[in-house]
Amino acid sequence: MPTDSPVVHPAQEEIVSGLSREPPMIPPKYFYDSHGSMLFERITRLPEYYPTRTERSIMGTHGRDMAQRIPAESTVIELGAGNCEKAHELCSLIRPACYVPIDISADFLHDAAQALRDAHPTLDVRPVVADLAADIDLDGEVPAERRLVFYPGSSIGNFEPDDAAGLLSRSRRLLDGDGAMLVGVDLVKEESVLHAAYNDAENVTAAFNLNALAHLNRLIGSNFDLREWRHHAFFNHARSRIEMHLEALVDTTVAWMGGERRFRRGERIHTENSYKYGIEDFAGLLDRAGFSSIVCWTDPRRWFAVFLAHA
Ligand code: AVI
Repeated sequence: MPTDSPVVHPAQEEIVSGLSREPPMIPPKYFYDSHGSMLFERITRLPEYYPTRTERSIMGTHGRDMAQRIPAESTVIELGAGNCEKAHELCSLIRPACYVPIDISADFLHDAAQALRDAHPTLDVRPVVADLAADIDLDGEVPAERRLVFYPGSSIGNFEPDDAAGLLSRSRRLLDGDGAMLVGVDLVKEESVLHAAYNDAENVTAAFNLNALAHLNRLIGSNFDLREWRHHAFFNHARSRIEMHLEALVDTTVAWMGGERRFRRGERIHTENSYKYGIEDFAGLLDRAGFSSIVCWTDPRRWFAVFLAHA
């Protein structure tokens, strides 16, 4: 196909359109290059970042109860599987026959899938690279019956509530009548706890947020100078969400292939929302997506919840 115009990668179009918007934004998936994925792993081990360990404690306390409600030999489809760390715990609880980790970061996913095969030699591991914001296409090779969609870590909170409902509906469509979904959800709580979790003392979350700019520099050839930006995260009560932004410390012009934008000192690029739900609100989203027989387990402080819902 002869053409004179430069080839524009879909990611470039998406990023440039976000940066050109008022107010500007960067989709949170651009946090996760390999350095960003490593920083996120560090976040999950920070003393202030309670979601990962609270979810793990719920699985530890109630795992047997969950397992009794999930058929043996099922096919586990994990959304946003990352390093597949949670699969190890889940596999010892429910002993699936097949494990399908889905993630946007291909290199990270394939390494993690191999580690999982090494640790569980009888488990059939079939990684799929996909963006959860789009339709999930599992080729016909993944068994259709006894599927469990597993979405731990409260990543569902990074979607707008309507998009979260859309993802839940698409997940439900992956399930036959005998399938179910197990999903981890971060709950509304005291603001100081939420604030600390996204403003840790070691500044790992700040480095994670700023790393999106380094990633963009490689993807679109931009010249963001990371020293000119700072991490800013706060709880937005009205919308029940943590918002993460990058704030310009000086007036600056950022250029990329084919364009540029001037940012004034104090201007912010919105990088992420992390919604915090009430139990009833999230059960309502599952219900809207067509799930039934919804059960949920929480920790004693009610900071986090794990929902099991049937298709
Ligand atoms: C991946 N996700 C659930 C994290 C969260 O808490 O919303 C991403 C994150 N952003 C800052 N810290 C962690």
